[in-house]
Amino acid sequence: MKQKIESLNAQLSAAIANVQNKEQLAAFWQEYLGKKGHYSLLMTELRNVPAEERPQAGKVINEAKKWAEAQYQELSARIAQIELEAQNAREAVDITMPATRRPAGSLHPITIVKDQMIDVFAGMGFEIYEGPEIEDDDHNFTRLNVHKNHPARDMQDTFYVADDIVLRTHTSPGQIRVMDSQQPPIKVLVPGRVFRSDSDATHSPMFHQMEGLVVDKGITLCDLQGMLDKFVQALFSADVKTRLRPSYFPFTEPSVEVDVSCFACGGKGCSLCKGTGWIEVLGGGVVHRQVLQNCGVDPDVYSGFAFGIGIERITMLKYGINNMGYLFENDVRFLKQFKD
Ligand code: PHE
Repeated sequence: MKQKIESLNAQLSAAIANVQNKEQLAAFWQEYLGKKGHYSLLMTELRNVPAEERPQAGKVINEAKKWAEAQYQELSARIAQIELEAQNAREAVDITMPATRRPAGSLHPITIVKDQMIDVFAGMGFEIYEGPEIEDDDHNFTRLNVHKNHPARDMQDTFYVADDIVLRTHTSPGQIRVMDSQQPPIKVLVPGRVFRSDSDATHSPMFHQMEGLVVDKGITLCDLQGMLDKFVQALFSADVKTRLRPSYFPFTEPSVEVDVSCFACGGKGCSLCKGTGWIEVLGGGVVHRQVLQNCGVDPDVYSGFAFGIGIERITMLKYGINNMGYLFENDVRFLKQFKD
């Protein structure tokens, strides 16, 4: 028996050298330590051993089996290590390889210009207010002094959601909402989307406006022009100035269109200003007494000015864009040209 065990041990030691992977390890286990493995079968041979030697022989066999198991454990750890190294080699990443660069996005030109405008006005002490895009007739029209049969209510221009509910056609309802919620002095900007049923090279059914409203004691049209001069100089060029032309809005009296001297030709006349030296940039005026009254502000004590700027128009002027469609198509070749 002793001899048999010794030769079996020698056989096992030799076999170990040939085990290189998990499959061979499993086969090794089967051959030596499995139910029908060499070491397990030793026990069946005990019956051939004389009875008085059996306990001693059984002990030797057990020890041999324990030794074989220890050999297996060691081998198994070695194979696990080899497999791990192989896996690491297979999955290795070459960190010196140049990476594919992800394209970085940029702000939309309308956002860039809107932020610049807000910056300029914030520097003058304006606060930001944002009103709802779906408005009632009252805020969008009536309380702004746009009476029931005013042409601005024409079905062609206004998107109606329900009988008295519209997609706001301008940011001016923001004036009403602000005056409803706070007492003068008031100095707010209302940026936002507005909607009109209109679409061509210079009109889109959805566009952006920036409303301004200042209400306090002794505010005049001069304050509006002085502030707008500073605004266009910050936005376009330090040497531009503004010009007011008489206009009409139901909610301002007097009302004005505001032109800026052409920043492309300095006022001499070019294609941008169509030879006139001036470019129209916004509408505004002195807040109508009726509008102040509609909001519970006493027009004998307070006065104010308001203005509304089309953000698309300013963006197109600033960047020399000649078709408004580019601003909404979201063609990346167009958009990536605008880095703030
Ligand atoms: N709401 C006007 C428009 O959409 C612009 C405007 C605003 C005019 C404020 C006067 C005062 O054209």
